[in-house]
Amino acid sequence: MSRVTRRDFLIGVPAGLAAATVLRPFLAAEEQPVSIPGKEGMIVRSARFYDLEMPPEFADSWITPVPHFFVRNHMHEPSVLDAGNWRLTVSGEVEKPLTLSFADLVKMAPHSVTNTLECAGNGRAFQQPHVPGIQWQKGAVGNARFTGPKLRDVLERAGVKPTGKHVMFHGLDEVPGKVPPFIRSIPIEKASDGDTLIATQMNGAALSKHHGFPARALVPGWVGAASCKWLSEIKVLDQEFDGNFMKPGYRMPNRPVKPGDPLNVDDSHVITGLNVKSLIFSPLDGSTLKSRAVHIHGTAWAGEADIVRVEISTDAGTTWQAAQLGREKAKYAWRMWSYVWKVPKPGEYTIMSRATDSQGRVQPATAEWNPSGYLYNAIDQVKVRVA
Ligand code: MTE
Repeated sequence: MSRVTRRDFLIGVPAGLAAATVLRPFLAAEEQPVSIPGKEGMIVRSARFYDLEMPPEFADSWITPVPHFFVRNHMHEPSVLDAGNWRLTVSGEVEKPLTLSFADLVKMAPHSVTNTLECAGNGRAFQQPHVPGIQWQKGAVGNARFTGPKLRDVLERAGVKPTGKHVMFHGLDEVPGKVPPFIRSIPIEKASDGDTLIATQMNGAALSKHHGFPARALVPGWVGAASCKWLSEIKVLDQEFDGNFMKPGYRMPNRPVKPGDPLNVDDSHVITGLNVKSLIFSPLDGSTLKSRAVHIHGTAWAGEADIVRVEISTDAGTTWQAAQLGREKAKYAWRMWSYVWKVPKPGEYTIMSRATDSQGRVQPATAEWNPSGYLYNAIDQVKVRVA
């Protein structure tokens, strides 16, 4: 489903709650924010399986509060979740298969990572030509502090055999009909990194149901799809898992393809780390500004790399000035940035933002087109009228 329809809107949202809308002139009626308990004001991209986007107005803090954090579900959330009965199995290419309870996990040394989680499809709506899939604009991204034992510690307890090359995650989501389950794997090197977690907390509280209670994988700097929610099974494999959500899902062509061309699976690879990217969260696209001193702000991130620079253009890309980077920073976390713009005269303007990272990657003018619209990271722009 590409976006929520009027029918889904009525089916998926309790009638009394649907009234709490904030009118947003640049969204179609069926994309207006609605209230889902704990997620009020989020944009519902799908109500069949919850896919909730953060509106740009909510992106005003380094840590994204859980109620404003996007949700991406490929299938139904588990209907019963009970930390007391929950078990995590660890099997496959290991010396000692394990079954851990939630109490076992909580007894292990916790580690915290502040991570910007972005859905691989964030920005898909801007891909030209259009590609099918959830039409995320800017808000399938958020920054949160995740806490839990290191995956490495759990793998060490099980004793990975030399044949163990990939680590597969499987969660408790309820699979509708004949849809293949959401199962993916990551290479053993990333699984053994001290920052890859089995997270039980988000922003200092237990994970909420939408974000994977009671435990999820947290694979920092990588596309959100790597971080399996409602984790119940870890299996060490001798090769990359090749189910639907690894092949043909979540793959990029090995070389640029012509817009409109289908994916050639044999000439593609699984997507892993996030791109360098900045977004303008204020002012809003299409807005009319009354003041001639405009506070432009947004965030920028680069997956496993660091942001070194964000530049702003207020003349549609002719000249660029450095934005000020926010003081709060952490490996894998986005940087806030801001720029105060003294508007020379009333008129129509195109504001742009462009990020550069520590690997020398620069946000491109045009994103690399691919059949699923993954990893969209073109220079961001908003058009405003200054009255
Ligand atoms: N894990 C399970 N079990 N099922 C899912 O559908 N979606 C993935 C990932 N983990 C998913 C999952 C995708 S595509 C993303 S982008 C992130 O979860 C989103 O995490 P969030 O909903 O906590 O923001």
